[in-house]
Amino acid sequence: MQKILSVANQKGGVGKTTTALNVAAGLVKKGRKVLAIDFDPQGNLSDYLRHEADELPTISELLQSAANRELDKLDVGSCVRHNHEGIDYTPSHIVLASAGVFLAQVVCREQVLRKLLSHPAFGSYDYIIIDCLPSLNVLLTNALAASTGVLIPVQTQKFSLDGLRQLEEVYRLVRENVNPNLEIEGVLLTMADNTNMSKAVEAEVRERYGQKVFQTSIRRSVEATNSTYVQESLISARNSKLGAEYQAVVDELLNGR
Ligand SMILES: Nc1ncnc2c1ncn2[C@@H]1O[C@H](COP(=O)(O)OP(=O)(O)OP(=O)(O)O)[C@@H](O)[C@H]1O
Ligand SMILES: [Mg+2]
Repeated sequence: MQKILSVANQKGGVGKTTTALNVAAGLVKKGRKVLAIDFDPQGNLSDYLRHEADELPTISELLQSAANRELDKLDVGSCVRHNHEGIDYTPSHIVLASAGVFLAQVVCREQVLRKLLSHPAFGSYDYIIIDCLPSLNVLLTNALAASTGVLIPVQTQKFSLDGLRQLEEVYRLVRENVNPNLEIEGVLLTMADNTNMSKAVEAEVRERYGQKVFQTSIRRSVEATNSTYVQESLISARNSKLGAEYQAVVDELLNGR
């Protein structure tokens, strides 16, 4: 069965995009058919994937077409791009930032992405990975409404846990109102290091979320910034420690945890 995973946390800079790309790359390496969706107007995932601006619709126009019931006017399948590492993706665009405006007029505005992803063009993917923006807005609720699971990267830093209650609340509301099948796929500890602070936060997260926390934590390493700089996944980099950690996360995902 197809899995649609939102990588979400409204806190900025916790490793969502790094996780989305490397989980996607790790799944591709394991032979899965994967689509990555950049659902953040900042477009960081698109950059990381080496996307170059083109004439094809971005996720913003696709969403708008779905909202206006005009998807039949587009060749949706041809809107999927392919990156040099074999990852299929739909890029973002800054105009996605105004999605709140056009969605405000739409009935069932939380379910527009869900409707888009139910298009036959997306049916053959084993996994769809959605890189969410750092906000609790209508784009996040769209992502959660369209997903089978949410993957929550949590940086092992002070205050990292503070915002999670709000995210849990949104998760609960989406489950209750639009998507009863939504699961917490996992909590992933990121940027872990040997400081007492990092260890304390890791212990607190493991205490609070138990089995939901991936056994593998992602360590803090300059490899991550280098990876975004050269626009290549950690997974594909030779002898990357973080690449091996992300591949272990993918193994945990595939083993059903
Ligand atoms: N394990 C890591 N160790 C060190 N740096 C990291 C690690 N993971 C990510 N980073 C770096 O931290 C920054 C933020 O990461 P990333 O863009 O993945 O976070 P994000 O949650 O998607 O941010 P935003 O909320 O802005 O979308 C980037 O510069 C990235 O290279
Ligand atoms: Mg991001």
